[in-house]
Amino acid sequence: MLNPKIENLIKKKSKSKIVCLTAYSKNIAKNIDPYTDLILVGDSLGSVLYEFNTTRLVTLDMMINHSKSVKQGITKSLMVVDMPYQTYRNKSEALKNAKKIAKDTKCDAVKLEGGTKIIPIIKYLIQNNINVMGHIGILPQSVKGKFKVKGKNLREQNQLMKDAKALEQVGVFSIVLEGVKSAVAKKITSNIKIPTIGIGASNDCDGQVLVTDDLLGLTNSNIKFVKRYADLGKSIQSAVKSFRKEVIAKKFPSKKYSY
Ligand code: KIV
Repeated sequence: MLNPKIENLIKKKSKSKIVCLTAYSKNIAKNIDPYTDLILVGDSLGSVLYEFNTTRLVTLDMMINHSKSVKQGITKSLMVVDMPYQTYRNKSEALKNAKKIAKDTKCDAVKLEGGTKIIPIIKYLIQNNINVMGHIGILPQSVKGKFKVKGKNLREQNQLMKDAKALEQVGVFSIVLEGVKSAVAKKITSNIKIPTIGIGASNDCDGQVLVTDDLLGLTNSNIKFVKRYADLGKSIQSAVKSFRKEVIAKKFPSKKYSY
């Protein structure tokens, strides 16, 4: 039987848009959870938090530790954890690692990057009661160098549709479309029954995901699809500046903050 949160997410397709964001810690998860349907512990944490130039350096332990923290901040959203690079090279490796992620983090599902090439692995996970989210288009774990938008030519368009159909057929509950041309995202979304979640893949997807640190203005991302909804970097600096001023002026801690 499907997890009720997953059933609700699937039901949302073509009724209302699905809101997804990343989180890497409890405090962020707690603040976004009332407004999200799905929280993803993405391996984007490698570049966002650790300055890695590729998500390939993210380890299983890093994903599990951050996910344990995120879990503490979630009360209602569906929690999905990315399986990092080289943790799902074959069926048995994938199952062993997916089970460890599920057991240690109590997440609802895992996400794997890839389409037709990894169908046997995804099928094996699903047969063993692991809920799986798909991810096609730009696959950061496979890219060496610059990310290129997918679906610009007929060959890529056909492959993306094949990938989406194969993922749907094997039983993933949703698919992330990353960096996909708008018309292709629209076609895929209307040709499958499970929700598509876009990142740089247009408003025609069933839902949207962004990296929360980008949305909050905590990173310097200049990617076209990133919209900044706040400048928390500025707010943090202003608060810390006030703290520094008061410490130096011996105003903090006043009696109120002392025993
Ligand atoms: O790693 C990540 O955060 C992701 C999203 C950007 C979809 O995969």
